[in-house]
This record gives sequence, C-alpha cells and structure tokens, in this order.
Amino acid sequence: MHLFLTFLLFPQAFVLLIVLGQEQKTENEEEKVKIEVVHVPSDCDQKSKRGDLVNAHYDGYLAHNMTKFYCSRSEMHGHPKWFVLGVGQVIKGLDIALMDMCRGEKRKVTIPPSLAYGELGYEDKIPPNATLFFEIELYAISQGPRSVEAFQKMDLDNDKHLSKEEINHYLTEEFKRDGKEDPTKQSMILTDIFHKNDRDGDGFISAREYNVYRHDEL
Ligand SMILES: *[C@@H]1O[C@H](CO)[C@@H](O)[C@H](O)[C@H]1NC(C)=O
Ligand SMILES: *[C@@H]1O[C@H](CO)[C@@H](O)[C@H](O)[C@H]1NC(C)=O
Repeated sequence: MHLFLTFLLFPQAFVLLIVLGQEQKTENEEEKVKIEVVHVPSDCDQKSKRGDLVNAHYDGYLAHNMTKFYCSRSEMHGHPKWFVLGVGQVIKGLDIALMDMCRGEKRKVTIPPSLAYGELGYEDKIPPNATLFFEIELYAISQGPRSVEAFQKMDLDNDKHLSKEEINHYLTEEFKRDGKEDPTKQSMILTDIFHKNDRDGDGFISAREYNVYRHDEL
C-alpha cells in the first residue's frame, strides 16, 4: 500500500484515530459532510490540504443522541493527533472535514454513515448506519511525508528517482534524529519500502511511484 512509506518514515505520525482499512461503499453519492465553521483566526497564512501532516483535537459523538464515543483529549494522554490528511488514516468524513482549515480554526461537522463506519459500525462504540458529529480544532499544519518537498529532500542527486542509497541515507538521518539507531530494522524497512513502492521493479522509486498526490508536480 502506498501509505506504507508514510508510516515508516514518520513513525511519530502513526497515532491513528481509527484504523479502518476498507473503504466504505458510498451508497448515496449525495451524502456529504456538513461543516459549520465555529471560529477562524484572523491570522491565517496557510490552509490544510491533502498530504499535509496535521495535528488536531477532536471529540466524536453519535449524532442521534450525542453520546460521546471518542475524545482525543482524553486518549493518548491528551496529546493532539498527528496524521496525514486526505489519505485514509482517519475516516473519510474527517479527511473531508479537515480540509482547507486554518491553524486554530474550529469546526462542528456532521458525517453521514457512508463517510464514517457505514452499515458495519465499529466494535461496540459505533452502531450500524450511524451519523457522527465531531467538534474539531486544528492545531498545526506541517509538510506531509509525501510532499514534493519531502521527495526533493531525499532525492540528493535531483534525478527524480530515489535510489536505495538515497532512501537509506534519509532513514539513517531519521533514525539518528529519533535517537534509536538500529541497522537491522533499518535494512528491513528499506527492503519493505522498495517492495511496496517500486512497482516496476527497476530498483528506483520514481516521482510517480512515490507521489500519491495526483496534483503535486515534481
Ligand atoms: C445512544 O445511542 C447508543 C447507540 O444507539 C446507545 O448505545 C447509547 O446507550 C445511547 N445513549 C444514551 C444516553 O441514550
Ligand atoms: C443500514 O442501512 C442499509 C442501507 O440503507 C440497510 O440496508 C441496512 O438494513 C441498515 N442496517 C441496519 C442495521 O440498520
């Protein structure tokens, strides 16, 4: 999966709200996320977009009786969540609801079941066909791991292809920065990255193979 490189390169970003690999079928294409903007800071120089690494707090409620089923403030010791926006690390409705937000912006959003947990629901927390309501606050926006900038940073010779040496160099720096060097693990990660991303098997990860964001230009 294309998400894999993301996960491996940014382990600190792997606090996922909910891992729900399967896509929900959108039975009714008309179903949309309803967004109410509660607060926009006057100072807004950057808006969240697909591929950004964002940091947000959100509380989730079942819309029909406002039972709170999730609170990012009380889970994970109250640390706001970091995740990559728009790539399915959170439910689809949240990926949509958090787009185009300013840092410090607050929203109330209503998410139809087709963009949340659908007919299956989720464990005992979310019943089938549940509409969800979230209160969201966006804390930070930073460059995502699959951005053009990240690619260029790794592409040391600027030939638009990532070699094993280039990625290994990058991993070494990342491991060092996290203070946990582990050559064995690093080599496994490298192998896995190529296994998952080098689709044409030429020994390089091309800009196209790397870049899951169709609108980015390399
Ligand atoms: C709200 O609905 C859920 C699921 O339908 C149920 O489990 C829960 O007990 C309800 N909460 C209240 C306060 O009625
Ligand atoms: C959920 O919605 C679908 C489609 O509207 C319906 O077929 C199904 O019976 C519903 N499931 C439950 C448990 O209500």
